[in-house]
Amino acid sequence: MNEAKATKFLGRIGDIYVGAALTLMIDVGFRAGLWDAAAEGPATSEQLAKRAGLDERYVREWLGAVTTGEIMEFDSPSGTFSLPEEHAVSLTGDGASNRSVNAGLLTYLGKHVDSVVNAFREGGGVPYSQFRPEFTSLMDQRFRREYNEKLFDGYIRVVPGLEERLMEGISVCDIGCGTGHNMNLMAAAYPASTLTGYDIAADAIELARAEATEMGLSNVSFEVQDATALPDDISFDMMTTFDAIHDQANPQGSLNEIGRTLKPDGVYLMIDIKASSDLKNNIGNPLAPYLYTVSTMHCMTVSLAANGAGLGTVWGRELALEMLAKAGLTDVEILDSSNPTNSIYVCRRPVAVTSRASR
Ligand SMILES: C[S@@+](CC[C@H](N)C(=O)[O-])C[C@H]1O[C@@H](n2cnc3c(N)ncnc32)[C@H](O)[C@@H]1O
Repeated sequence: MNEAKATKFLGRIGDIYVGAALTLMIDVGFRAGLWDAAAEGPATSEQLAKRAGLDERYVREWLGAVTTGEIMEFDSPSGTFSLPEEHAVSLTGDGASNRSVNAGLLTYLGKHVDSVVNAFREGGGVPYSQFRPEFTSLMDQRFRREYNEKLFDGYIRVVPGLEERLMEGISVCDIGCGTGHNMNLMAAAYPASTLTGYDIAADAIELARAEATEMGLSNVSFEVQDATALPDDISFDMMTTFDAIHDQANPQGSLNEIGRTLKPDGVYLMIDIKASSDLKNNIGNPLAPYLYTVSTMHCMTVSLAANGAGLGTVWGRELALEMLAKAGLTDVEILDSSNPTNSIYVCRRPVAVTSRASR
């Protein structure tokens, strides 16, 4: 055995656990409002506790973790703690740059370790129902910020001419829409277009409808609908899935339905994970361990729980292109998304070529 390698790895294990421990503290800070309170300026533990309306003893212990964890800084003479503005950018506010929201997904997945380990032993998986209703609101918190800032510039306007068509009035469908904030924003921006959101989750659809009503929208509707059996009498000019193919029980069935219901000159934007289908190409991708973990703990297991394909989060571009082709979508351009974990697949049907002889 190489002793130096063993010692180096022991250090790495330590780093991994410290990162996991700080993930808990980042989530606590987000939920308790400590990050936003800390960003207001330097404070002692008493002042910060008062600012956030919290118990000082807990705040002091939390400050111990996040200060030694090099997230906050401590000025010993004055006894004050401060959150550098360079760190506050990633931990505070309502914008998409606030990454403290993401910690909640990891701490929540931690609650399902027993059930997932049981599935390792017995097969099957942990059903979607076991992750609700918290999963619905975690997804909403995460995606809402992204849509508020980036839906138009980061997704719609990357496809030349698409916004003009939306302004003129087209039919749009988002599959696996969750709480539907993206559809509601588009409905408000493009009143001549008609938008539909489908999801199997009744709690998410209820929230999507409530927001549409609150926003006074009459050109958007949301239905509880399985993506693998869309109604016969519908077709759309634009279809979208935002991180909603890889965790389905029957993703090929769902893509086939998109292929069937997309109009001949329509466009399908599949926003999905940026990775390779081949593990060896993902080695060295710093986000890959996160993606495979979320897959094991949620995306793959919910699919396997329904006797599904269990594609997993890291199904990758090679397999995605194969499956899109099976659904008749062979004209595919892959663009980078503003979200580093995602790609935007801009999919169309192949242009029909008319031979000279048949003209
Ligand atoms: C990772 S979440 C993404 C949510 C959503 N796109 C957003 O932006 O917040 C995946 C969504 O796909 C939905 N889903 C899974 N299987 C489905 C199916 N067979 N038909 C319709 N929706 C499905 C889930 O209920 C969940 O809301």
